[in-house]
Amino acid sequence: MTQGPLFITFEGIDGSGKSTQARLLAERFLAEGREVVLTREPGGSPGAEEIRRLLVEGDADRWSPVTEVLLFTAARRDHLERTIAPALAAGRHVISDRFADSTRVYQGLRGADLRQKVDRLHAEFIGREPDITFIIDMDPAAALARGLARGIAEDRFEGMGLELQQRLREGFLGLAAEFPDRCHVIDGARPPEVVAEEIAAIVGVGANV
Ligand code: ADP
Ligand code: TYD
Repeated sequence: MTQGPLFITFEGIDGSGKSTQARLLAERFLAEGREVVLTREPGGSPGAEEIRRLLVEGDADRWSPVTEVLLFTAARRDHLERTIAPALAAGRHVISDRFADSTRVYQGLRGADLRQKVDRLHAEFIGREPDITFIIDMDPAAALARGLARGIAEDRFEGMGLELQQRLREGFLGLAAEFPDRCHVIDGARPPEVVAEEIAAIVGVGANV
């Protein structure tokens, strides 16, 4: 394929299959001989990984909601400056497991006022949207069962109940409606290869690898 570098993000609730699909899409680009950077948030650059530790370790109430938004935005700014922008400038595709939509949904859940702060910070310090966003949608109970099956590590964002996961799911679907040009809602409750095939067709990358 001859298209220019794409910035692609995967979003959705925990356990929906974002990292799995991000990796499968990266493999398809590689199979076509394209260079690709597979990255994640919070994190994705040395400085942002340090901020990630501040965010995911410690007590649930370690940070106030506003401070948390500032930390996610600071991490994203470093990730953008040091990893995403240089890779795109060098002609590499970038695939990120979470990006700004996660802040809009997770932190935005705290109220309209916080969502406005998230949007203002994004406009001022990030100012960049992905070319394509895949929202991997699935029932939170089924996603949770996957997480339990793999024995995920404890962190500040775990222990969030099913009811909250349901609100997050609805938040992501709301975002898809808000940004219909770049967002694609993908049914994640299917075998990984089937999900990957649909995603590859939308991106327009290669046959099965
Ligand atoms: P996320 O990054 O959204 O938290 P992961 O990609 O890490 O999700 O997947 C969570 C767990 O579910 C992993 O154990 C993974 O192997 C498994 N998994 C991912 N996609 C599927 C799928 N389509 N069907 C069944 N299990 C899946
Ligand atoms: P992540 O490492 O993606 O967790 P998982 O692999 O379990 O999906 O993200 C850690 C947590 O951080 C996750 O619960 C989502 C949350 N998060 C936010 O609340 N805001 C954000 O801006 C981002 C990027 C993540």
